[in-house]
Amino acid sequence: MGVEGETVCVTGAAGFIGSWLVMRLLERGYIVKATVRDPDNLKKVQHLLDLPYAKTNLTLWKADLVDEGSFDDAIEECTGVFHVATPMDFESKDPENEVIKPTIEGMLNIMRSCLKAKTVRRLVFTSSAGTVNGEEHQQPEYDENCWTDIDFCRTKKMTGWMYFVSKTLAEKAAWEFAEQNNIDFISIIPTLVVGPFLMSSMPPSLITALSPITRCEAHYSILKQIQLVHLDDLCNAHIFLFEHPEAKGRYICSAYNATIMDVANLLRNKFPEYNVPTKFKDVDENLKAVSFSSKKLTDLGFSYKYTEEDMFIEAVASCREKGLLPFCNETQVNDESSMEMKKQEVDITSKKQAELKAVQTEANSAK
Ligand SMILES: NC(=O)c1ccc[n+]([C@@H]2O[C@H](COP(=O)([O-])OP(=O)(O)OC[C@H]3O[C@@H](n4cnc5c(N)ncnc54)[C@H](OP(=O)(O)O)[C@@H]3O)[C@@H](O)[C@H]2O)c1
Repeated sequence: MGVEGETVCVTGAAGFIGSWLVMRLLERGYIVKATVRDPDNLKKVQHLLDLPYAKTNLTLWKADLVDEGSFDDAIEECTGVFHVATPMDFESKDPENEVIKPTIEGMLNIMRSCLKAKTVRRLVFTSSAGTVNGEEHQQPEYDENCWTDIDFCRTKKMTGWMYFVSKTLAEKAAWEFAEQNNIDFISIIPTLVVGPFLMSSMPPSLITALSPITRCEAHYSILKQIQLVHLDDLCNAHIFLFEHPEAKGRYICSAYNATIMDVANLLRNKFPEYNVPTKFKDVDENLKAVSFSSKKLTDLGFSYKYTEEDMFIEAVASCREKGLLPFCNETQVNDESSMEMKKQEVDITSKKQAELKAVQTEANSAK
């Protein structure tokens, strides 16, 4: 598959994963049609407009998953589509209609737009670990043959259950539609994504990943048994799978299996100034990690470039640069900047309650 001058569409382009993927595609010579819900909202899209090559090779397109035909214009003339967008309202009072239905219908809308365009040769879907291990008893290792138990999620109604259900049903519907309509479809299954970022607000997954620093105790249970991948590795894997002629089916993209003790030890070593806790309630020190196997992806030739240390060091650096994380955990009453950072931390935490639930979905997938 070629690269230079090819036109591709990225949905959910302003988000944590979408914006980094757009950056990597532009760097690789692609012309990118990026969909966002509100192209006029500069707070949400400025980081896209500021990217290298954006002036010549990037256009923004307004599209919403819930509007039939909304993606037609953005997908027209594209050879590839990366479907990244997903609704993440885990506080929804009507999850069936506000989360599950739009995710499935949005997936199928995009597939119909691909058919109409007649130019799309491959569609890459950003799925989720939540489609793999949502079940009562966790196995020691998961691979691409595993699927979340929808009935269990609907009955148990754990936090983020509607996200598991929505992503699982959307991916299943996509496989059926792709087979019926002969669409070259690939799904990539990331675990919790950690790393640097372009957006100006705190990415949902980092609120969980950095919770031992911010002492957001509600998130500790999510990190208890977790799998992680670096954002840049994940975006490179999207492009790798789009370009690889032999790519077929589902691909787990996950580089590191950990318990919260592993995450805390790493953070404590790298950032002693945060006084990261050494013990966590209800966490047995002998707790074993649950593994997600990336063998299928690495057997195809993909290699991970980043270590778990890179993930956290770069995530913390981005948060600090953007004023989203204090430089230490000690409140210095007379230090105005420290107080301001503390205030921002509290503001972020309270504003992002809904987004925090997103993290829990990924976390639950690791339980
Ligand atoms: N981050 C992780 O740890 C992780 C792990 C596994 C899988 N994933 C998957 O990765 C994808 C991106 O996640 P993310 O972490 O980048 O989250 P994010 O920053 O919240 O991005 C999600 C994007 O989806 C868009 N969106 C939501 N509802 C929409 C709708 N009705 N119509 C059109 N667009 C809509 C939002 O667009 P606006 O900018 O217009 O609001 C947002 O930019 C999702 O599919 C998620 O399931 C993420």
